[in-house]
Amino acid sequence: AAPAAVIVAIDGPSGTGKSSTSKAVAAQLGLSYLDTGAQYRAITWWMVHNGIDLTDPSAIAAVAGKPEIVSGTDPAAPTITVDGTDVAGPIRTTDVTSKVSAVSAVPEVRTRITELQRAIARSAEKGIVVEGRDIGTTVLPDADLKIFLTASPEARAARRSGELKGADVKATQEALIKRDAADSSRKTSPLAKADDAVEVDTTELTLQQVIECVVTLVGEKRAAK
Ligand code: DC
Repeated sequence: AAPAAVIVAIDGPSGTGKSSTSKAVAAQLGLSYLDTGAQYRAITWWMVHNGIDLTDPSAIAAVAGKPEIVSGTDPAAPTITVDGTDVAGPIRTTDVTSKVSAVSAVPEVRTRITELQRAIARSAEKGIVVEGRDIGTTVLPDADLKIFLTASPEARAARRSGELKGADVKATQEALIKRDAADSSRKTSPLAKADDAVEVDTTELTLQQVIECVVTLVGEKRAAK
């Protein structure tokens, strides 16, 4: 018989290898993949694009339901569109990155995006790997496996600057710490480790080792199902 759909939640701060790990695990196991950070970035991009005052949470809340955000869940080629426009590139700019914490802290935004995430997870027939900040705690509290990835601030900044090709490590580290502090301290559904999550410190691990670790844990959960 085909294995039952398995739902894997991978949370943690930025620079811990969440995206690379989640995509690789989903690809290896034939599961769908959802990058929830990309959804928050997409709604932020739309707000910037439409001149919404991001210093005013009520202005953000008032339009939170407007943009139509569609995520493609193939781990080999994840996509994201807003009202039909491909925004995969624009959501990675430093402008959007610096504004996403303010937008994603607004409860109306979180309710909207959380509904999308649950619908996508429900419709993934073979199962899905969902990466974010509050997946194990809020979005999918019944996930079969919850992973919480961590790494030292130095390792996280170094990985992010590597991705940004030659960006200043110190400036990257400062921006990253600021964003994680905002994401961890917001009132609604902050970045947090679920009580039943397995914590994996990736500081001294290669990406391949982290992937193997998660694949093994998924295998154990599936065997026990
Ligand atoms: O994973 P990322 O860096 O692309 O995420 C961008 C931002 O989106 C992050 O700073 C906080 C927010 N986010 C969130 O609030 N909840 C999630 N589940 C995922 C991301």
